[in-house]
Amino acid sequence: MCGIIGILGNAPAAPRLVEALRRLEYRGYDSAGVATLEGGQIRRRRAAGKLANLERELAERPLAGSTGIGHTRWATHGAPTTDNAHPHASEKVAIVHNGIIENFRPLREELIRAGHKFASETDSEVIAHLITDYLDKGKPPEDAAIAAVRRLEGAFGIAMLFAGGDDILIGARKGSPLAVGLGDGEMYLGSDAIAVSPFTTRVMFLEEGDIAVLTHNSAKILDAGGQAAERQVHVFAGGAAAVEKGNHRHFMQKEIYEQPETTGRTITRYVNAYDERVEMPDLDGVDLAADSAIIIGCGTAHYAGRVAEYWLEQIAGVPVETDIASEFRYRKPAFGKNSFGVFVSQSGETADTLAALRYCKENKLKTLAVVNVPESTIWREADARLPTLAGPEIGVASTKAFTAQLSALAALAIAVGRARGAIDAKEESRLVRALMETPRLIADALHAEPEIDAIAQELSHARDVLYLGRGAHYPIALEGALKLKEISYIHAEGYAAGELKHGPIALIDEATPVVVVAPHDALFEKTLSNMQEVNARGGRLIVITDAAGAAEVGDIASHIILAPACDPFVAPLVYSAPIQLLAYFTAVHKGTDVDQPRNLAKSVTVE
Ligand code: G6P
Repeated sequence: MCGIIGILGNAPAAPRLVEALRRLEYRGYDSAGVATLEGGQIRRRRAAGKLANLERELAERPLAGSTGIGHTRWATHGAPTTDNAHPHASEKVAIVHNGIIENFRPLREELIRAGHKFASETDSEVIAHLITDYLDKGKPPEDAAIAAVRRLEGAFGIAMLFAGGDDILIGARKGSPLAVGLGDGEMYLGSDAIAVSPFTTRVMFLEEGDIAVLTHNSAKILDAGGQAAERQVHVFAGGAAAVEKGNHRHFMQKEIYEQPETTGRTITRYVNAYDERVEMPDLDGVDLAADSAIIIGCGTAHYAGRVAEYWLEQIAGVPVETDIASEFRYRKPAFGKNSFGVFVSQSGETADTLAALRYCKENKLKTLAVVNVPESTIWREADARLPTLAGPEIGVASTKAFTAQLSALAALAIAVGRARGAIDAKEESRLVRALMETPRLIADALHAEPEIDAIAQELSHARDVLYLGRGAHYPIALEGALKLKEISYIHAEGYAAGELKHGPIALIDEATPVVVVAPHDALFEKTLSNMQEVNARGGRLIVITDAAGAAEVGDIASHIILAPACDPFVAPLVYSAPIQLLAYFTAVHKGTDVDQPRNLAKSVTVE
């Protein structure tokens, strides 16, 4: 994840940009850069490493100008060098970008053919050249920006600065957050409200597909359809916590909506989009070509491991055993000779998971931690680590940490597949491309919010709810049931769809809603039969599926929640979004404490 700031101001911009970047450093610190307009011309300063390096660079070679943009980078495409640092610029425009441009390769090739010279390995640089191309064709800045943004696929937040345009700054949001700060004769853009907080307390949060066209005295918002739109102005006089919730009512809702960004950040940490390959850090002796693997966690982290079990077996052909940490540690588990253990934990402090890790280490098993909190105990004690880059998760019910775990584990499955010779370069490219599309697909899946809200209203009256799924969506059904239990206190159970007839079918009646997680994949027809079994017994079906699935389900479902069509590999990530929203809105309708549900703790450090 990267941090973005833009200032259309009346005072020297460079020091103010640096001040804002200091607040954004938590989002990444591989490199930093600023660009300002000096006499109408774009001037840049960039430096690899921490912000202090940029500050030194600016002390030696100061930048004048009162309008500018800045960026802190968490390297995704391309190493953290000065050339790859943002802003990226032509003579006519400079941009800073947070997110992934999925179609950067074809755009880059097209622009190179048209004579553009690229100076970095980033996906972001195509944005600057694409806008320049439209400016060269005579479009004014606003039209050039809109035309360019329309051609970008992926998830992004962008700020744009135009040469000769000292009264215009443009921002665009799709999937990655962007806020507009409203000043007195000044305007600002920032990745979050904290970025603009030194300058103003009045903030608007852009919505999906919005473009903000700022002048010193006006902020025009165009929605995804190009229509002028109004966005609520929030006034933040209080502390960072209030600021942090942004447009959202609860942290959980905010965290659900952060997932296009947090999955993007985690995925791009492990894939080289340029070569379409997975790149794992040094795993310190963990042999990915091992004969078997075990995956251990608790709660939601355990379910992430259960999805990874399907991936590792299907992609890498490696036998995998998954278990709940509290069971594993006391059952005297046996290990294969050449095996490794994966320990999944948001907090990195869960007592049972930590004890299981220590047990494995005592038994000379190499250990790999998939952990969200850096320097936590599990992080430190494991032989190697694959960080999940979800950022701090405040809501007790885990959402963005779960999909970040899935993101890292998906990359791991590809890496193991390659290490074991189970997939060739072509298949690796295909899987990497599918992963790169995931943040955008999650953003698309979140568009079902209004329907999900309406269904949740009905679900909030249920006493019991069943969740069904097959294959890698069986753990997603388990996770869906867990989310609902945790925050709405409605009893819910997840079952493998094929297991329905072996018991749970006795529970089916018109009062027991059945949520089915069923993308139109190779197992869909089987799950459809299970839906028919529910329907035949008067059960109410809430089916989460794509357009092809919806066409087959027809009217046996009481409700359909539409998800985007996607590669079956990444479907568990995409289908996580609607099951989270369903639990969230059910709890909101019931009026329970969404962020701090009764009896639960975010991190359980006791047995
Ligand atoms: C607690 C939390 C769950 C979480 C589990 C594992 O029970 O309430 O949301 O899934 O612990 O936590 P970890 O930090 O190890 O992922």
